[in-house]
Amino acid sequence: MTALVSFDRVFELLDAPNPITDRPGAIELVEPRGRVEFDHVWFRYPVDVGSIASLEGDVLLPAPLPDRPGAWVLSDISIDVTPGSTVALVGPSGAGKTTLASLVPRLWDVTDGTVRVDGNDVRDLTQESLRRAIGVVSQDPHLFHDTVAANLVYARPTATTDEMMEACRSARIHDVIAALPHGYDTVVGERGYRLSGGEKQRLAIARMLLADPAVVILDEATSHLDSENEQAVQEALGTALAGRTALVIAHRLSTVVNADEILVLDAGRLAERGRHDDLVGAGGLYASLYANLAAEPLVG
Ligand SMILES: Nc1ncnc2c1ncn2[C@@H]1O[C@H](COP(=O)(O)OP(=O)(O)OP(=O)(O)O)[C@@H](O)[C@H]1O
Ligand SMILES: [Mg+2]
Repeated sequence: MTALVSFDRVFELLDAPNPITDRPGAIELVEPRGRVEFDHVWFRYPVDVGSIASLEGDVLLPAPLPDRPGAWVLSDISIDVTPGSTVALVGPSGAGKTTLASLVPRLWDVTDGTVRVDGNDVRDLTQESLRRAIGVVSQDPHLFHDTVAANLVYARPTATTDEMMEACRSARIHDVIAALPHGYDTVVGERGYRLSGGEKQRLAIARMLLADPAVVILDEATSHLDSENEQAVQEALGTALAGRTALVIAHRLSTVVNADEILVLDAGRLAERGRHDDLVGAGGLYASLYANLAAEPLVG
């Protein structure tokens, strides 16, 4: 498999358009440590290309909006995530959690401010090296119509069978795969063998372990997993996040309670930040979100 194919597949995985190109003289991110900084980040989505192309003859112009607060999806966000720590992003639906996370692998560029990885403005880095440093496990991981093995090793085409199986053991999915009709050669995906939501997430975690990125972005599933799957996913995550910088869009109580820092987003602003106990004690937005989580521990 060529690098180009696997890169295309990354986009398929990230499920995003790619209007972004490397700047001339972009540098490689080498041996990333995984420090992630947001420095006074402001963001709003570009206006729909289709609706302005005929008028402007140009594409992806920022929307010519007056500076009203409602226009911003993210307003003046500053965060510094130390290498190896886990930050949980919480907040109401539409608060901007997924958008914030998507600025790190540069699915979009900031409207103002800077996102840095290891001190480098992400716009100065080659996208290939940036995305190699970042692993994304989405809410509903996409599997290609191909074998389990192919779905795993595209993350690292040089991986050996032993390494692949080791990653699957760590991700608590090996036994499930071994029991499939053709084991690792079983074809999965839309028209293939259908794995459950929890199994797909663990396969995505195994894929991430093989890629071995310094930074992990995890959009936790909002759907109910049965308790066996829930337990397995929790165990898999424990292994997967150790030693990596993790930005977790958290819907599970256990994730937020264990996070090094919790960031509470509300309508694009950083409303609160801190550890679980402190935020519960503060009696603000987090405390009310937590009350909902506690009432129904597996969903956000
Ligand atoms: N591709 C897009 N184009 C335009 N607007 C978008 C796009 N994606 C999200 N938005 C808008 O940006 C805002 C923040 O959305 P975002 O998906 O980041 O929220 P979220 O906190 O992840 O919500 P949820 O908990 O429901 O996943 C919302 O108002 C949303 O409608
Ligand atoms: Mg989201």
